[in-house]
Amino acid sequence: PIPVILDCDPGHDDAFNILLAAAHPAVELLGITTVAGNQTVEKTTLNARRVCTAAGIGGVPIAAGMAGPLRGPRITAPDIHGESGLDGPGFGAPAVPVDGRDAVTFLRDTLRAHPVPVTLVPTGPLTNIAAFLLAHPELADRIERIVLMGGSTGRGNRTPAAEFNILADPEAADTVFRSGLHLTMIGLNVSHRALATPEVVARVHVLGTPLAAVCAELLTYFGDTYREVFGFPAPPLHDPLTVAHLVAPDLVALVHAPVAIELTGTHTRGATVVDLDGVTGARPNAYVGVDVDVEAYWDLIVDAVRTLG
Ligand code: BDR
Ligand code: CA
Repeated sequence: PIPVILDCDPGHDDAFNILLAAAHPAVELLGITTVAGNQTVEKTTLNARRVCTAAGIGGVPIAAGMAGPLRGPRITAPDIHGESGLDGPGFGAPAVPVDGRDAVTFLRDTLRAHPVPVTLVPTGPLTNIAAFLLAHPELADRIERIVLMGGSTGRGNRTPAAEFNILADPEAADTVFRSGLHLTMIGLNVSHRALATPEVVARVHVLGTPLAAVCAELLTYFGDTYREVFGFPAPPLHDPLTVAHLVAPDLVALVHAPVAIELTGTHTRGATVVDLDGVTGARPNAYVGVDVDVEAYWDLIVDAVRTLG
């Protein structure tokens, strides 16, 4: 299996990525690090513990990370994910602990100790990953690759130009995209094709387990906010496209392209400027998602809930 660390801000769609990574036999889930994003890091850390508890995921360390971006103000997304960051279902007290180490220390220890290079899967602002790369450049070769959800080849969501995860910490994103590491970016241009329609929610619900009920409630809440805020007919399940791509490499179509992060634009800070046509002559630095096999994606998600349930 592929050794993976998830770096996330759960978050309804992050929650499903945890489930997929824990359930799929092709993944060895070494740990979960959390970051401020959809909500404060205290809340996203609690939510990671809630998800693991609800899904019976034990023995996976959860380490809390950065409380805000490298530079600039912290932004959160209560309009989309609620005050808790994971509104909708009721959760009991979490039964899994928090690792005593901060995320950067956890990454350092785990990458040093693991016998083969590890794949990092960030699905929130890139603050933890950038902080790690800046603090431990000597461990960059212990990273096999980074597969992240963020950005877009087209429009943003938090601003017309910028996607939330990149806008929440553009300097961190810039650090990651300039790192020279093997980078795969799956953004809104792909995730907005993966809408959890009522048929998908019904496929989850009919599994009939307590976990399936929690998952159906998460999708329903997420659907309600996406309808209210963006007028979407159903919610896009952005983040699990990352692990889905890892376990089923043909599921997301990719192109190799130069990607730059806009840091200074008057109206475009946090934009991912993707040179799909090669007009800049810059060297490609990322594999960029451009399409997804939606049916195969929902099969993976439903199978994960079934497996854990
Ligand atoms: C991203 O922003 C967050 O709200 C989601 O969890 C996802 O990672 C989509 O723009
Ligand atoms: Ca997220």
